[in-house]
Amino acid sequence: MNAQTPIETRLSAFRERWQTPGKLLIGGEWREAASGETFATEDPSTGDKLADVASAGEADVDAAVAAARKAFEGSWSKVKPDERARLINKLADLIEADGEALALTETLDVGRPIQFSRMIDVGGAVGQLRYQAGWATKIQGETNEISAPGEWLSYVLREPVGVVGQIVPWNFPLAMAAAKLGPALAAGCTVVLKPAEQTPLSTIRLAELALEAGFPEGVINMVTGFGRTAGAALAAHPDVDKIAFTGSTQTGRAIIEASKSNFKRISLELGGKSPTFIFADADLKKAIPAAAMGIFFNAGQVCAAGSRLFVQEDVADQVLEGIAGMARMLRVGQTLDPETMIGPLVSAQQLDRVTGYIESGRNEGASVLVGGGRKDGPGWFVEPTVLVDTEASMAVRREEIFGPVLVATRFSSADDADRLAALGNETEYGLNATIWTRDIGMAHRLARRLKSGSVRINGAGGVDPALPLGGYKASGWGRENGKAGIEAYTELKAVSVALD
Ligand code: NAI
Ligand code: MG
Repeated sequence: MNAQTPIETRLSAFRERWQTPGKLLIGGEWREAASGETFATEDPSTGDKLADVASAGEADVDAAVAAARKAFEGSWSKVKPDERARLINKLADLIEADGEALALTETLDVGRPIQFSRMIDVGGAVGQLRYQAGWATKIQGETNEISAPGEWLSYVLREPVGVVGQIVPWNFPLAMAAAKLGPALAAGCTVVLKPAEQTPLSTIRLAELALEAGFPEGVINMVTGFGRTAGAALAAHPDVDKIAFTGSTQTGRAIIEASKSNFKRISLELGGKSPTFIFADADLKKAIPAAAMGIFFNAGQVCAAGSRLFVQEDVADQVLEGIAGMARMLRVGQTLDPETMIGPLVSAQQLDRVTGYIESGRNEGASVLVGGGRKDGPGWFVEPTVLVDTEASMAVRREEIFGPVLVATRFSSADDADRLAALGNETEYGLNATIWTRDIGMAHRLARRLKSGSVRINGAGGVDPALPLGGYKASGWGRENGKAGIEAYTELKAVSVALD
């Protein structure tokens, strides 16, 4: 199957594949849940059921963790770094070769327009794995001179942390699963991976491809299931050494609680309420479309979405009209249409949440410049929306909406970097920020003052595996990606040998 295969043929291959429910991958075997239970996943652009998958419970999580432990202590510990790199690269190749089918799966299960499933999900997963594969052969310890009397050889080993539970949300299932698997495997860990209940299908396929790539049994285990059952069991499990989680701040707190039992290491990539600053001297031809896509892309279901806009008063009307124009122009609709730019939200629950926020903004006195409601017809579509006249006290200014809703505020030419940073830092989050100005001094002054895990100046774009990803404050703990990301899957061991 390739890009030339007609869509009907691809869709019937998809339906054929999902006539039988998806299973769990535990210790190299595909199994039903011990309870026999399954649950359905749907296409958010129609609300129709797509497939059933196994609903893992505590017993299944126990079995998956035991398999991961066995592989960690056994076969996987003997696999050399270059072989780990080869296997991760092989998985990347298999994903690339299966790219069209995976993109279709992601489009149907997540509600992502097909052009983005190809680029972001498949392209992102492949890029992540290839980047992370490179780390397998580059993990280094240290030798350290110590000051104790006598002659010593002291060195620091960097060892894999152990069995890792990886809990992924529904907004970028394939790319995020790859971004979590890659560094864990490169570092020599074994994994129990849990996709979100709304979007399990591409992860099941990913697990099949991992087996095909030749990872020894038990190195990658995959359990589909609900957060409150399978997710909670994994987070609380006494034999899991680390949890890597991406999702809501609320669930992040539950994971911190659950980790206390055995002092698990945790990395948390949580929510955001990221500011975009547009100054009067900015290149508005670039800044306006970037600010619009920064919030409307993926219907705003992006942790780093630019959801708060601060625009200098001299250009505010022009910028807001430009963004509103894009909101009207962007094609919202059927996800299989190659021209579609904006798809639905992932679920009826998210639709209620996002429309609830728009309503609350109205009630608190914000005005709707464009959009403002759900789109008629089937599926969980919301119109790209801009709220103006917002105040810092409003819930829409403080809380993560996770929908295509921009809240805009004007700032004055007299505002300095301290004042602007205070605006940027006014929420509990600190994930990302974007600054548009030709004044490089101001750009860097503001970048320094923002409590934000990343800052982008005069440009836009997504996650890059080379850059640390994560946040200050309630946006999380630790960083994924880059050198920090691989090190987060390691423990340090200081060894000292008396030489005399
Ligand atoms: P969630 O955080 O509850 O779900 C994310 C993952 O955590 C899923 O795999 C889920 O099964 C699992 N999970 C849920 N409860 C768990 C528990 N007690 N223990 C272990 N795992 C658990 O997010 P949800 O409810 O799907 O979305 C709610 C809000 O979260 C969104 O509106 C958005 O604001 C935020 N969110 C942020 C994401 C990000 O990229 N940072 C991604 C998804 C959601
Ligand atoms: Mg789905």
